[in-house]
Amino acid sequence: MKAIQVHQFMELPSSLQQEDGVDAFLSMCDDVPKPSLKKQQMLVRVFACSLSPGDVIMVQGSMILMHHPFPFIPGMDICGEIVDNNGSTNFKNGDIVVASNGMSPVGGMAEFMAINESEAVILPPGVSKEHGAASSSAITSHNAVMENVKEGDRVLILGGSGGVGSAAIQIAKKHAKASFVATTSTQEDMCKDLGADRVINYKTTDWWTIEEFQRERFDVIIDCAGGRNFYGRAEKVLKTGKQGGTFVAVTAIDEAYPDCGTYWKLMKFFGTMISRVVYTKLTTRTLPNYALLMPHDEVKARKKVLEWMEQGTLKIKFDGNSSLPFTAEGVRQAFIKVGSHHAHGKVVVTIAKE
Ligand SMILES: NC(=O)c1ccc[n+]([C@@H]2O[C@H](COP(=O)([O-])OP(=O)(O)OC[C@H]3O[C@@H](n4cnc5c(N)ncnc54)[C@H](OP(=O)(O)O)[C@@H]3O)[C@@H](O)[C@H]2O)c1
Repeated sequence: MKAIQVHQFMELPSSLQQEDGVDAFLSMCDDVPKPSLKKQQMLVRVFACSLSPGDVIMVQGSMILMHHPFPFIPGMDICGEIVDNNGSTNFKNGDIVVASNGMSPVGGMAEFMAINESEAVILPPGVSKEHGAASSSAITSHNAVMENVKEGDRVLILGGSGGVGSAAIQIAKKHAKASFVATTSTQEDMCKDLGADRVINYKTTDWWTIEEFQRERFDVIIDCAGGRNFYGRAEKVLKTGKQGGTFVAVTAIDEAYPDCGTYWKLMKFFGTMISRVVYTKLTTRTLPNYALLMPHDEVKARKKVLEWMEQGTLKIKFDGNSSLPFTAEGVRQAFIKVGSHHAHGKVVVTIAKE
């Protein structure tokens, strides 16, 4: 089968932006064997695969627990048709499903992929295959918003134009019924279209210095941007834990892509995160709660997200308003875009139309 293969870890976006030698990192191969199935796995013919920062972490080798032998096929979030249900009683051949290989995040940028039956959800009829594949980040948005935002809350979403932020704005406004949603982004029109009441260009204005925000404090801040110590800034505009103020860390503390490439770095990373959770539990009188969002209940959230997409109450925007082709160049552009940390919406590759 045709599949993209990663031959060595790379730095994104720089490794794929060079004039030549890109093939040494990533190439299209025509004769990759179809995946063999383990128990409770099904074979799907892939229609579309979307990329997210998790795929960047994977190809950069930034997470020791996710190192995979080379060459490997990148991509984990897909929509495809089941061609071998492997005896499943829940799915039949011909079903079109959305799935994510979260625990083994490889295999999606290929004509065929083995998926875990437990992670598959049927694509609703009104949702396109590309949109199905791109629904993955909205699962994170669903959990971040629905578990923390109450009706009438004032909410600030850091990074409103990314895959997670663009869905979080809509979910906060339409489904959690927040009274006011502000966001930080350079994409004012896009975020307003999605439902944001106020958009702060983070390149020109520091949100924690805005007088209105200091006066009327937020109930919830959801950090989908990372890159600076935003929790440290948040206490200026967020209610204390005792008043119900919560900072939801979707990203790592100080970096959009944490470097956990060795066991020591991994321990340091989780140690810092966990000590912050414990510390802020002890200081809720003066500091906001700190909630670390880890992936959980993904299938339940995916069903809800796909239901909202079918109803038209959640729209998944594509970066550049279209998907990319399944060629080495198309996938290279997709990784450059996600790896730049400046995608506006989701980055999707169409693998097969029918
Ligand atoms: N905890 C979890 O379960 C979980 C799950 C999925 C993802 N994540 C993490 O969540 C984060 C967001 O994921 P994503 O898919 O939304 O990423 P993404 O799509 O790559 O985010 C790109 C967006 O971030 C914006 N941005 C970059 N720097 C910013 C800043 N300083 N302030 C505001 N916006 C900024 C960019 O806007 P401009 O172009 O305007 O700069 C761009 O629109 C990632 O770090 C990812 O690893 C966590």
